[in-house]
Amino acid sequence: MEISGEVASSHNLNSTMYKVPQKQPYRTWYHFQPPQCWMNDPNAPMYYKGVYHFFYQHNPHAATFGEKMVWAHSVSYDLINWIHLDHAIEPSEQFDFNGCWSGSATIIPGKEKPVILYTGIDDKKHQVQNIAMPKNPSDPFLREWVKHPQNPVMTPPSGVEVDNFRDPSTAWQGKDGKWRVVIGAQNGDEGKVVLYQSEDFANWTVELKPFFASDNTGVCECPDFFPVSINSTNGVDTSVQNQSVRHVLKISYLRLHQDYYFLGKYANEDGNFTPDVKFTGTSLDLRLDYGKFYASKSFFDHAKSRRILWGWVEECDTSHDDIEKGWAGLQCIPRQVWLDESGNRLMQWPIEEIETLRDKHISIVGEKLVGGSILEISGITASQVSKLLLYFVTFFSF
Ligand code: FRU
Repeated sequence: MEISGEVASSHNLNSTMYKVPQKQPYRTWYHFQPPQCWMNDPNAPMYYKGVYHFFYQHNPHAATFGEKMVWAHSVSYDLINWIHLDHAIEPSEQFDFNGCWSGSATIIPGKEKPVILYTGIDDKKHQVQNIAMPKNPSDPFLREWVKHPQNPVMTPPSGVEVDNFRDPSTAWQGKDGKWRVVIGAQNGDEGKVVLYQSEDFANWTVELKPFFASDNTGVCECPDFFPVSINSTNGVDTSVQNQSVRHVLKISYLRLHQDYYFLGKYANEDGNFTPDVKFTGTSLDLRLDYGKFYASKSFFDHAKSRRILWGWVEECDTSHDDIEKGWAGLQCIPRQVWLDESGNRLMQWPIEEIETLRDKHISIVGEKLVGGSILEISGITASQVSKLLLYFVTFFSF
């Protein structure tokens, strides 16, 4: 839901690439959407000074993917009602001249300061990793971001294609105090996730052995690496490593356009992540979702001790329809994610705040749903309400 009156003023729009129709019958009410134009990946979600931040890949000039993507920025107190702010990061320098692509936030403990790592498409169209920091960390809305003087802080290492090196994860700190981060990559048909280490978050060195690799998959996009508690549905911070957690590596395989995840063991001492199973390319592989859901990203919400997952819902409209609508792309309702009691898969549920949207409650009891039958839900007129209800009917009928 958008809070009106606060919408950012920085939309320099090219009217040939999108239209804003008077009526918007297909806009959603509850899913996150920008005021207009194209949106894809969720970027750097975080909770900071009492405010939830959400950044996303955005083309402010059209309802289609664009040449020079920016980081748009919205904030919320409850993950439901959103205020749209000015763009946080836009192409401006040699190291991001052709676009500011996906990345993640890390909150540096002690300093309690967020740092963003993002992929820049440089003036040669090579993919490099850059740092952005808040200009004023005491502003809870983090309205202005500055780029680090040492950018780019990572350039494509050997064995990685220069145009397939992107999407830094949230960094984690080992017991030795060093920072670690993983980046999606590709070499030929091999998909890779490469590991970098740093003492100071500015100077990074690559590990020669890939953190993860899979044959015949193509590029691994948007890796997300995080611990999950073995005994609790509570989330844990990204740097936690002890006997009471297991680790999850999530990969978005571009070729399949699906988000897969691997549970496994992570031992910081040798730097290796050992997944329980390998990617098979069959229905045995675990996915975060089986519908339109891609490039997801999680974060630890320390306000409520939970891990929250966002994912891009691309929808099925044609580009022509998107241009007519004036927008494209949704985010899923944020989900809490935790480890199932079996320890073999993740569980997910829409965040509890979604319940604040409930109004008139209608329950239908004792009706048997059989194939082809029509169940009329009377007493409701709003299409959004019936959609939400139908969603749950469908969900529970699995
Ligand atoms: C995933 C992705 C990322 C990239 C971004 C560009 O959808 O392709 O790999 O950083 O989108 O918008």
